[in-house]
Formats: sequence, structure tokens, C-alpha cells
Amino acid sequence: MQICKTLTELKQAIDVLKNNRKKIGFVPTMGALHQGHLSLYHRCKQECDVTVASIFVNPIQFTNAEDLTQYPRNETQDLQMLEAIGCNLVFMPSVVEMYPTPADIKIYFGTIEEKLEGKFRPGHFSGVGIVVSKLFHLIAPDVAYFGQKDLQQYLIIKMMVEQLSFAVKVVCCDIQREPDGLAMSSRNVRIAQQHRDDATSIYKSLLLAQSILLSHSIHEIKKSIEQFYYPHSALKLEYFEIVDADTLEDISNIGINQSVAICVACQLGNVRLIDNLVVNI
Ligand code: PAJ
Repeated sequence: MQICKTLTELKQAIDVLKNNRKKIGFVPTMGALHQGHLSLYHRCKQECDVTVASIFVNPIQFTNAEDLTQYPRNETQDLQMLEAIGCNLVFMPSVVEMYPTPADIKIYFGTIEEKLEGKFRPGHFSGVGIVVSKLFHLIAPDVAYFGQKDLQQYLIIKMMVEQLSFAVKVVCCDIQREPDGLAMSSRNVRIAQQHRDDATSIYKSLLLAQSILLSHSIHEIKKSIEQFYYPHSALKLEYFEIVDADTLEDISNIGINQSVAICVACQLGNVRLIDNLVVNI
């Protein structure tokens, strides 16, 4: 497995792959890898000739300085995991390598970025868009893999790729969960022991909403969810939204042939967790 830390090294490695007409699959990450990330690599390996990973904790997508400093980092184990699954190339640049001058540029994605995560993390998607654009330019992948875990991120990247004509196919992969339902996340290691049980209620709340989706109005579902969260005082609900799964627009009535996303964000102690469920009706 080749490890590139500079843009020059990366360019040389990518040029070789391109000259050999390899189909390049790319999985961008911020490291602290878990089975959720690895599921993206497995899919990539099945569909492409070479698998390229990036590990970069992108400072410009963090809206909270503490979240950035607390973000888990585990380079040695990440590299072992990537080697073990047969990843071919890892790009792990420093912040200065990626941003030799401050990234003054901003990307505005329109109304889709103002919903859900965007409401609570202003500027987050601009930071994601900038780093992913840069990585796409540097790696020029044929296919890039993203997780449904970050549904809004996937939709925004898909939109960016279409509207800016990036020559990359964007693939969305299923959410990987712990046996108790908690969506895998790099941030899970920061959940305090006494809060670990409460964390499972996030997925349970999605299942509850799904079970009454067709029999109750959106207003009634949201009321039930508020009551569901009430006894779990450690979980502070930031949002619980039932939206169109393609546009993230609010929906007032659920109809046949609709694809509905139930999206949730919670603060558990000082850890922020998100999850979602897409239901095709
Ligand atoms: P990160 O949070 O490391 O996630 C990297 C990719 O793994 C994302 O596409 C994310 O949706 C996916 N992922 C995370 N948990 C998952 C799970 N439980 N099941 C399936 N996929 C999962 O998302 C980012 O990094 C960054 O914003 C990035 C795109 C790398 C830009 O900096």
C-alpha cells in the first residue's frame, strides 16, 4: 500500500494509475476508521481496479473548535486496517499541504444546505465541498463512495458533481450499525460509558417513526417522538425531521411512491450524533 503525504507524491502515483488505464475508486474519510468506513472500501474494491483512500481531518468543515480538537485520530490503526483490506493508495496530507494559504473561497449549495445539519453547522457544507472538490481534482477518481449515514452530505456532493460536471460517479452506501442499532461513527468512542445505552434510543426513535409513518400525520409523529425522548434526559434532540429523501424538502403528507428520509441529530453529553432512515413507500 502506497502512502502519499504531499500533492507531488500523489500526482506521480495517480499519473501511473491513469497511464495504466486503471479504474480508480476513491473513499474520502477523516480517519478513526471503523466498520462503517470499511464497508465503503469493500464496495469500492468490488467495483474498481484500484482503491484510493484519503485520511484528512478537514479543519474548514468544523464549526466548533472543540469538536475539531476532540476529533479522534488514530493513524497507525487506520493504516493497518486499510492495508488489511487491500487498499492500494492512501493520501494523508497535512493541513498546510492542503491549505498552504487560508481557503477564502466559499461554496453555497442553495436551500439544500440550509436544512438539517446546515442549520446547526453554518459553513460546514462549504468546507466539505471545498475539500471534496480538491480531492476529486487531485485524485480524478472514476467512482467515489459516500455513506448514507451523512445523507445530506451525499446529496450535496451529488449535486456539486452534476452541476460542476466532475467526471466522477458518486455512489451511496448503506449505513452500518452496531448490533444494538447505533450507527457506527468515529465519534462513538467519545460517548461516555453511562450514556452508551441512551445512544441506542436514537435508532429506536427512527424505527418508531417508521412504524407509524403511514398511520399518523407528521405532526402526530413528531409529538410521539418528543414523548419518546422525554425520559432520556441525557439525549438532547437537535432536530427530528421527516423530509423528501432526494431534496430534503419538508413533506406535509406522505404518499405512495415517495422516498422519505427520517433524519435525527442529538447531543449526548458533549458528543453530537446523527442518524437517518430512508423509507420507500
Ligand atoms: P467521515 O466522517 O470520516 O466519513 C467518511 C465516509 O464514511 C462518509 O461518506 C460517511 O458517510 C461514511 N460513513 C461514516 N459512518 C458510516 C456508517 N456507519 N455506515 C456507512 N458509512 C459511513 O464524511 C466525512 O468523513 C467528511 O465529511 C469527508 C467526506 C471525508 C470530507 O472531509
